[in-house]
Amino acid sequence: MLSIIILAAGQGTRMKSDLPKVLHKLAGKTLLEHVYISASRLEHTKINIIYGYGGQKVPDTLSHLQANWVEQTEQLGTGHAVNQVLGDIPKTGKILILYGDIPLITYETLSELVESSSDSGFSLLTTYIDVPSGYGRIVRDEVGNLIKIVEEKDADDEQRKICEVNTGIMAVEASLLEGWLRNLDNNNIQGEYYLTDIVEMAVQQGIQIKTISPGSVMEVKGINDRAQLSELERYYQLIQAHHLMKNGVTLIDPARFDLRGDLMTGEDVEIDVNVIIDGSVSIGKNVIIGSNCYINNADINDGTVILPNSYIENAVIGRDCKIGPFARIRPESRLDDNVHIGNFVEIKKTEVGKGTKINHLSYIGDSSLGKNINIGAGTITCNYDGANKHKTVIEDDVFIGSDTQLVAPVTIKKGATVGAGTTVTRDMESGELMHNKIEHRSVSNWKRPVKK
Ligand code: UD1
Ligand code: CA
Repeated sequence: MLSIIILAAGQGTRMKSDLPKVLHKLAGKTLLEHVYISASRLEHTKINIIYGYGGQKVPDTLSHLQANWVEQTEQLGTGHAVNQVLGDIPKTGKILILYGDIPLITYETLSELVESSSDSGFSLLTTYIDVPSGYGRIVRDEVGNLIKIVEEKDADDEQRKICEVNTGIMAVEASLLEGWLRNLDNNNIQGEYYLTDIVEMAVQQGIQIKTISPGSVMEVKGINDRAQLSELERYYQLIQAHHLMKNGVTLIDPARFDLRGDLMTGEDVEIDVNVIIDGSVSIGKNVIIGSNCYINNADINDGTVILPNSYIENAVIGRDCKIGPFARIRPESRLDDNVHIGNFVEIKKTEVGKGTKINHLSYIGDSSLGKNINIGAGTITCNYDGANKHKTVIEDDVFIGSDTQLVAPVTIKKGATVGAGTTVTRDMESGELMHNKIEHRSVSNWKRPVKK
């Protein structure tokens, strides 16, 4: 039986932010969610999260997490924080303690840590860091047994030279932890109740604490300021990029690719530089995405080409479509196969049937378009009367000339034709042609005015 505790009550002074530190985002998810996701893969009974700084902001923002939220009204130290939740935790079984600001810890490392605590009842995750400043140092005796942890601020010069550091992450028997926490004091430089002091208590009780190391030191790097946040962001992005490449995606430059969510890909996808994928996105086989595209919560099917500088949000794009360059596909849009959306075209809440082309400079919103329609350059659906939105319906095989306004609600039936520059204010019949009556005035040999 495993209970999990995530400490997340601190402010994070060095972030210089109103937002509690654990709500800052890494690859589109909050730091706390990263920790939660890795921890929740372990077989466990409950995840307890200690929050404090920012009041209800943390539990409110992350209310979708299944957790026991426990408030620590005053942040009196990591030991004090764990004490807040002890009453909610079974007295037998193991406890895993994690920090909300160490986001890249993996499930694999955590399960090894929990497993290894079975022998003595206490396992600690430590690592070696070249410049260990800021971390608690691991003090060992002459035969290498762990004897205590000294916080940097309390350490002497010799202890500061130690490069083995406390990650803060530990697995411990519930029955042991309770007694130690009761005996913590705050007689140290920071006047805090240090969780790390339980190490010395355990050693005095004759417990041999097992230490293990993470697969990579990046897993246990804590975030204290925005520079560290960006360092972990880049590291994590590269890991994701390599995972995609392994699955058959060509990334022209993995250092200039950002995934802030979950991406499913088919084989032979090619992604050019500076593409951002956000939310939940799926991309089919043989899809090409040009440079500088932003794609959020979309489904892009096989063989489609997205040309540079396109923006796609909450949309489904069929097979073999050609989108962009400079196209904007807004939420609730569904494009069927073989659709072409060209430059400076905005599509919103619209269905577009197979083979329809909207190639230049248009706004099509709140509309339903059939198959094989050609929409000329500069066509606007006038969907808004200042108070309400109205629908435009365009049936199969319609031809709309350039610079046309379709004043909704309006329906244009199958095969109808609209001449260039027309303002359509009523429904059109199937096969009908509508154009503005234009009287041309013509002067032969016209002399242009000359400058006086
Ligand atoms: C802590 C460890 C240090 C370790 C380092 C690793 C202690 C005393 N020190 O130091 O040995 O090397 O982490 O990153 O444990 N928190 C609360 N309530 C509190 C205080 C802290 O919830 O009253 C939470 C913070 O939000 C944070 C975590 O505990 O998620 C660590 O706190 P922080 O103040 O960053 O500890 P460090 O000084 O980094
Ligand atoms: Ca810290």
